[in-house]
Amino acid sequence: MLLEVKNLSIYYYTLAGTVRAVENVSFTIDKKEWVSFVGESGSGKSTVAYALLNLVPSPGKIVNGEIIFEGKNILGLTKDELREIRGKEISMVFQDPMTSLDPLRKIGDQIVEVMTEHGMEKDEAYNRAKELLRKVNLPEDRMSYYPHQLSGGQRQRIAIAIAMAFNPKLLIADEPTTALDVIVQDAIMDLIESLKKEGTSIFFVTHDISLAAERSDKIAVMYAGKLVEFGKVEQILENPLHPYTQSLLASVPDLWSEKEIKAIPGYPPDLRNPPSGCRFHPRCPVFNEKANLKGVCDSIEPETIEIEKGHFVSCHLYR
Ligand SMILES: Nc1ncnc2c1ncn2[C@@H]1O[C@H](COP(=O)(O)OP(=O)(O)O)[C@@H](O)[C@H]1O
Ligand code: SF4
Ligand SMILES: [Mg+2]
Repeated sequence: MLLEVKNLSIYYYTLAGTVRAVENVSFTIDKKEWVSFVGESGSGKSTVAYALLNLVPSPGKIVNGEIIFEGKNILGLTKDELREIRGKEISMVFQDPMTSLDPLRKIGDQIVEVMTEHGMEKDEAYNRAKELLRKVNLPEDRMSYYPHQLSGGQRQRIAIAIAMAFNPKLLIADEPTTALDVIVQDAIMDLIESLKKEGTSIFFVTHDISLAAERSDKIAVMYAGKLVEFGKVEQILENPLHPYTQSLLASVPDLWSEKEIKAIPGYPPDLRNPPSGCRFHPRCPVFNEKANLKGVCDSIEPETIEIEKGHFVSCHLYR
């Protein structure tokens, strides 16, 4: 096992109240495994992603839980120890590559710097930078370009090249293709997959369950700060257990059928004051149909149970 997250809870302490953004989330990622976190906007996916390097932005605080990476407790490391891991053993790629690129400096210098910061000699780093550009299918002359001279897709390739510099053990990719058109998106997904082939595990975030289904080994479904279902892709697609997962899958357009797409009615809740019991109950079609669930789903928090090996769900229907 590469990464183990146990009972992670993260709150944002805002002036308008405490946002319970992530609550009691547990999961694991194995070596060379691609795990995708899916769920609507605001469900806590990015907050979990940032927590993996103890980088939850203020006013966010990790209030409970453990993050064990290769036996090391990430939350117990000093800033220097984290800096050593970041970019070398764990890399991050974001939706907007400009958040990690300096607009005023040449691409080549920025790639080289990431490596020299971790102690690589300048000549070696320069050669490695050229090799990395080839790996992400960009010509070497891009070294002397500035970020604004590249397209969004090319900038994302640069961000991935930087992330690849040290053959990281884990790549955290937070909606890396959301801002790109479909063809470029596919090329970026190919690049991430090539990293996996070289031995990197992938923590991938997307709001698009069909994109997750294409490449992942496992899918984690988040709803309103809770991990409601976790399992192998086949388990999630062939036997989705949680009503929210079922709704997400029903909302995917199917090219081959005339079936109408069903949007999920209602809105995600305000996490300053999440619904009691199961956070999904106000929108859950099963709860709304079955009278015997009243007084259960709306007042008791469902526990997470393992239905078959590796397939977890948090829903009263499976007690
Ligand atoms: N800096 C912040 N301050 C206050 N609340 C935040 C902050 N960042 C995120 N949140 C809240 O935390 C919850 C989870 O957000 P986020 O992790 O960004 O979700 P996702 O990535 O799934 O869209 C949301 O309710 C969001 O409004
Ligand atoms: S616990 Fe109840 S409300 Fe929540 S998803 Fe399951 S059936 Fe629906
Ligand atoms: Mg996000």
